[in-house]
Amino acid sequence: MSRRPPFYQKIMDRQQYIEKLLEHFDTPRHRGAISGADVVMSGGNPSCGDSITIYLNVDEQDRVEQIQFEGEGCTISQASASILLDKVQGKTLAEIEAIDYNDLIEELGRDIVLTRVRCATLSLSTLKNAIQEYYVSQGSRVAK
Ligand code: FES
Repeated sequence: MSRRPPFYQKIMDRQQYIEKLLEHFDTPRHRGAISGADVVMSGGNPSCGDSITIYLNVDEQDRVEQIQFEGEGCTISQASASILLDKVQGKTLAEIEAIDYNDLIEELGRDIVLTRVRCATLSLSTLKNAIQEYYVSQGSRVAK
């Protein structure tokens, strides 16, 4: 029985996954800085030097109130950030922590990104670090 990631929508064919990545790269959602964000977290891929910075605002219910990113990098890393941030808008931090890296790989198209896992997951690893930083800044638990 196949796993279904929490934000998984539908199986697309290879060409559809490629078109989706290109579309998000060309027209990224949630792109740009947030002035005075609760958390600003940068992450990078050491093998290529590409980077992403996530800006996160969290509401009183621990939900993502606003989330944006800036970055320089390959199509997959930047499209991944756009797709991921679209998915997590309004989600609780706990829901985001529960997202598995494989869930994101499925969402992006496993066949397309499997040889570029570090590119594909840079956005999620940076977001998870941002959440940890938020907990630390709030003096609350460091999430499990
Ligand atoms: Fe650098 Fe993809 S080649 S993140």
